[in-house]
Amino acid sequence: MALSISRCNFKKKLTRSIYCSLFQKNVQSDTSTQNKQEPAVDSIKTTFRKKLMNGPNLRNFFKSESLAVDWIDVRKENEVPYIEPKSLLGNGRKVYFEVYGCQMNVNDTEVIWSILENYDYEQTKEINDADVIFLVTCAIRESAEEKIWNKLKSLKGLRKKRSKDKPHLKIGVVGCMAERLKEKVLEQDQSVDLVVGPDAYRDIPKLLVLSETGQKCINVMLSYDETYADIMPVRLNQDSVTAYISIMRGCDNMCTYCIVPWTRGKERSRPVSSILKEVENLVSKGVKEITLLGQNVNSYRDLSENNSDTSLVSQPTSLSKGFTTVYKPKLGGLRFYHLLEKVANIDPEVRIRFTSPHPKDFPDECLHVIQSYPNICKSLHLPAQSGNSAVLERMRRGYTREAYLELVENVRKILPSVALTSDFICGFCGETEEEFKDTLSLIEEVKFSMAYLFMYSMREKTTAHRRFKDDVSHHIKHKRLEQMIAMFRYHVEKRNRAQIGQIQLVLIEGFSKRSKSNLVGRNDQNLNVVIPGLDLVPTKCEYNDCRLLKPGDYVAVHINDANSQILKGIPLYRTKLTDFSNSQVHGEVLRLRELPLNS
Ligand code: SAH
Ligand code: SF4
Ligand code: F3S
Repeated sequence: MALSISRCNFKKKLTRSIYCSLFQKNVQSDTSTQNKQEPAVDSIKTTFRKKLMNGPNLRNFFKSESLAVDWIDVRKENEVPYIEPKSLLGNGRKVYFEVYGCQMNVNDTEVIWSILENYDYEQTKEINDADVIFLVTCAIRESAEEKIWNKLKSLKGLRKKRSKDKPHLKIGVVGCMAERLKEKVLEQDQSVDLVVGPDAYRDIPKLLVLSETGQKCINVMLSYDETYADIMPVRLNQDSVTAYISIMRGCDNMCTYCIVPWTRGKERSRPVSSILKEVENLVSKGVKEITLLGQNVNSYRDLSENNSDTSLVSQPTSLSKGFTTVYKPKLGGLRFYHLLEKVANIDPEVRIRFTSPHPKDFPDECLHVIQSYPNICKSLHLPAQSGNSAVLERMRRGYTREAYLELVENVRKILPSVALTSDFICGFCGETEEEFKDTLSLIEEVKFSMAYLFMYSMREKTTAHRRFKDDVSHHIKHKRLEQMIAMFRYHVEKRNRAQIGQIQLVLIEGFSKRSKSNLVGRNDQNLNVVIPGLDLVPTKCEYNDCRLLKPGDYVAVHINDANSQILKGIPLYRTKLTDFSNSQVHGEVLRLRELPLNS
């Protein structure tokens, strides 16, 4: 198997050897100066120096060396002297994406697609039609990686089946699992052609061309500054009225259980200006809801120099009482709540959400911005992970149970209607029955409106892997997970049923999965609301261009049923986000006579 060496190692080795030979020549000439040379020698030396200055640089050495192909930066097209720009083109080859993991991967796929579209690739939704298959992978738990291995197995069959009409089918494993396992992916599964980490997506067109020669290609170099800020992601589903925007990459928190700092590298924020440009672009295409993404959105800092708005340049982060970090707080720059405000101001009719924030970075300023903008949704994700302070310390979360509960109290004081969601892990190293009970009691006390619940899965490289023992049996982890689920279901159902009778603003997203005669959308608190797809009678003339409800419409909905998963309701009238929130502020009572005739 010809394996082209990972860019960083190869670069180091090659650079070192060529650099060494130049260096030796310099040393020789310097020594000769000390020996008081003859004028002829001096002139040879000057000529050599000139040659060195005006002569070929490192890149030119590589130009004639086909070996060097794997490290030259493809960010600027003219820096790829060894591959004709034309040969980087896909010439209409079809790419199929299968996306696993979190929303960051969804957005990354849109970045990859934007890059490939520029190189004349086409997208296909049909795996059998594909010339290139990309698995955009996750490494957060073992089960996430198992799914990919299984998928790769099934792709072997597909490759065999298509060997006649698609002899050059390429399979790429990209994203977090690629970064975690690196060349091990190629060693373990011979059907993979490309392995690309989350900071190397710009290299994909080049790697695809290289793989045509039958080489296996890998670039898993992490970056300190890659934010793909200059790439306008192209949404996979252009019709969707919702969109994700990455505002930062990586994570510096180093929670002891988590692999993300290893798969996504150091935390870095994308400049405000580039984010605002993307928001404006999405809004101009009719997007009505934007979710700002990052592993730690509220640690966002735009430290770029062109932030001339000095009134907004902030002081170092002062963490609330009871919260600590493992890294030095960043100084200056624009903070998350500045960004949030700027994004919310772009269009008051566009909803703004964000995920995931970390509980340690919720200054009151941030909560006040959320409170004062009707289009910033009043739903907050506060990943707790555990309800026990000793476990939280072992997890290195940077807060105690008490500090977390104080934060919840403060959030609810400033944002009374807020819906809180969370993440919890059970069965972390050394978790006793008593410690786990604290998690259950926290769930009971806070009454979250939704949560992601996980059994702990030990990941190599993490601090927990080095320091602790994964000593809670699978059986106990499973039992605890069931207990968490039951506790959640009970409270969520109660919470949801308490909303029956309310009139809520719902943004329609499309048909319900179960029935084409129903529509589904989400309320401000991010809950799914199912309504009958009625021919709605508009109450205001400016909306009467279309009688049928459609994705992107805001509708006032009378909630009349609920369970632990969804709310159900009757649509009352089409409206605007601003009108609806004004009517709430002024306490207008909606009369039943405003209901459509057919409800
Ligand atoms: N940055 C986000 C989390 C990203 S990972 C945050 O801090 O909220 C999403 C969730 O996966 C985490 O919140 C955690 O609950 C869970 N998780 C992370 N590592 C895990 C592991 N090793 N085993 C089980 N769950 C894990
Ligand atoms: Fe992982 Fe913790 Fe970073 Fe979230 S904050 S990505 S859990 S290290
Ligand atoms: Fe998974 Fe990477 Fe997201 S590990 S959860 S895809 S950041």
